[in-house]
Amino acid sequence: MDSTSAEDWPDIPNVQDLVALDRQALSELSDCNSLANIIAWNTKYLGDQGLVTLQLKQIPKQDAQHRAGFGKAVNRIKTTLLAKKEEKQRALKEEELKRSLAADALDVTLPGRGVPRGRLHVATRVMREIRGIFADLGFQVYRSREVEDDLTNFELLNMPPHHPARDMWDTFHTTTPGVILRTHTSPGQIHVMRELCPEPIRVILPGMCYRYEQITARSEIQFEQVEGLCIGARVTMADLKGTITAFARRLFGQERQVRFRSSYFPFTEPSIEVDIDWPKEDPNADRLTKGTGWLEIMGAGMVHPVVLQNGGYDPQKFSGFAFGMGPQRITMLKYAIDDIRHFWANDVRFLQQF
Ligand code: DAH
Repeated sequence: MDSTSAEDWPDIPNVQDLVALDRQALSELSDCNSLANIIAWNTKYLGDQGLVTLQLKQIPKQDAQHRAGFGKAVNRIKTTLLAKKEEKQRALKEEELKRSLAADALDVTLPGRGVPRGRLHVATRVMREIRGIFADLGFQVYRSREVEDDLTNFELLNMPPHHPARDMWDTFHTTTPGVILRTHTSPGQIHVMRELCPEPIRVILPGMCYRYEQITARSEIQFEQVEGLCIGARVTMADLKGTITAFARRLFGQERQVRFRSSYFPFTEPSIEVDIDWPKEDPNADRLTKGTGWLEIMGAGMVHPVVLQNGGYDPQKFSGFAFGMGPQRITMLKYAIDDIRHFWANDVRFLQQF
């Protein structure tokens, strides 16, 4: 019933006025293109003083003959306009919502962006694992300095200035003569001995070391080491072997075989290197062990009498063992990492894997 013609209307004297009012209201409603327009239209036609409302107020004033017909007609106009208005209002509301969504594309119903979860660096994880194993074996952690002097890094470890063994460590020197970055954690042995002498010692010394080396897949200028030192009245090579075996099996698996080879370090006598057997099932086994089936994990030995003495201990009364290993190397083995440079490159794609 969009519009009505005079024939649809009852036979009343001012029917033309009503028809015109109805048409005008409908046409203006269809011109409304905002909710504000609709409110104005509503006031004009259906409000307290609205044109349709005024006609409603005319009903009682009609003569008795036409009153019912007039009343019906005006009420019909009002009801129809009200329904049309609501329909139009709904459509406009929907349109406005669509427009505002398109204009500023903020959809509050979208799920938010997740906060990425952090995790421990793989070097930290393995270091904690190593510390945990040695803690169970009764070793305390002793932290030693990274900036050392030549005396402690070399000389007190039984390497005098022109000792050829110094060639094993390419050193970062500072502008202050004799002050260097430690090339290994072994100088920590001297610090801990001098601090605790004459008490027995059972410590590990974890920390960063620095070497002036060409950076390759197998060598970095910085890397971590874990040094171990045990000193007491009757410490023997058997204690060293037992400790290392227990450690290697906890870290790599209870079925691991451990092999001790004789070797040379200036600060231990005798010196050994420790290998573990590598599972043949591992497709990388041949490459890692160069076909031997064995993989080196650390250097070790009985603390040299000169080093004991430099630490304040009487070699007649005390003996001890020491070992040193590189956790990055061990981590590479454990997780089949093929390049040591990944450790400090801070590439999250690498770090996320652990
Ligand atoms: N300091 C040695 C290195 O950096 C590792 C090492 C070997 C430490 C034997 C020791 C040891 O305590 O007994 O190559």
